[in-house]
Amino acid sequence: MKEDIGGVSLEMEGSLVEKNGERVRHVEKVGYVKRVIVKKKKPYHSNKVKKHVSNKTLQKLFVSCKETFKGPDTIPSTQHVHKLCHILDNMKPEDVGLSKDLQFFKSEYIVKENPRVTYTTIYKCDNFSLCIFFLPSKGVIPLHNHPGMTVFSKLLLGQMHIKSYDWVDPEVSHNLLQQPSQLRMAKLKANKVFTSPCDTSVLYPKTGGNIHEFTAITPCAVLDVIGPPYSKDDGRDCSYYKDHLYTAFPNGEIAELKEENESYAWLEEIEMPENSQMDGIEYLGPPIIESAL
Ligand SMILES: [Fe+2]
Repeated sequence: MKEDIGGVSLEMEGSLVEKNGERVRHVEKVGYVKRVIVKKKKPYHSNKVKKHVSNKTLQKLFVSCKETFKGPDTIPSTQHVHKLCHILDNMKPEDVGLSKDLQFFKSEYIVKENPRVTYTTIYKCDNFSLCIFFLPSKGVIPLHNHPGMTVFSKLLLGQMHIKSYDWVDPEVSHNLLQQPSQLRMAKLKANKVFTSPCDTSVLYPKTGGNIHEFTAITPCAVLDVIGPPYSKDDGRDCSYYKDHLYTAFPNGEIAELKEENESYAWLEEIEMPENSQMDGIEYLGPPIIESAL
């Protein structure tokens, strides 16, 4: 099934959905697909195929990212953060070719089994990447980190729960903590529900909730600006974690670091959960024009 929006469509397949009295087959993916162009006779217009038109806001975001992320060690200045947040705060689903009217975002579109997450990359270079993640209802991006990265997340559509942590001591190797292996103490930074339209969240290499988990309450689309992108070769691989109640493994020495009224947990590094693999799809929304720089 294809939903058409301004030259870009979102294809949803996976389950049988009732629409206009018809049973329609869906697969478990969400994808942009090219618009089916129906030729109509227009004697006063040329027969040229209409090109995808760039989007002013997306283009502004791209230019601002180019100015902000200059290399792997970049931590954006306060000024750059404000500028990027301002652009993202005002971003609409339509700026990346999406719409709340797409079947995927409607409440009746419920994936019953294995609600897989889908992503698309709008742009990627060595310094930053722009990605959209599509989470069906109950879809989860499990607890994962962003080593050495700054990430701006803008929930474009839907409602999701976000939980995030920072390491209590980012400099200490977990081997020195004299705790059960692979457990490391983290401070809870966020544990709340976000509903679009909402402001942008920012996480930094050592603060702002660098380790986070997304759980979709309704079908969601999240735009992530990631600088620099994940790169295994450059030591920025993604690790996954399971959080344990702090009280499950109390430790006298580390407990001294705790401040009142703050929540802590032990994070255990785990293999990537099997059911959390994502499907990648091609981005066919408004293009980014690099030559405009
Ligand atoms: Fe993330």
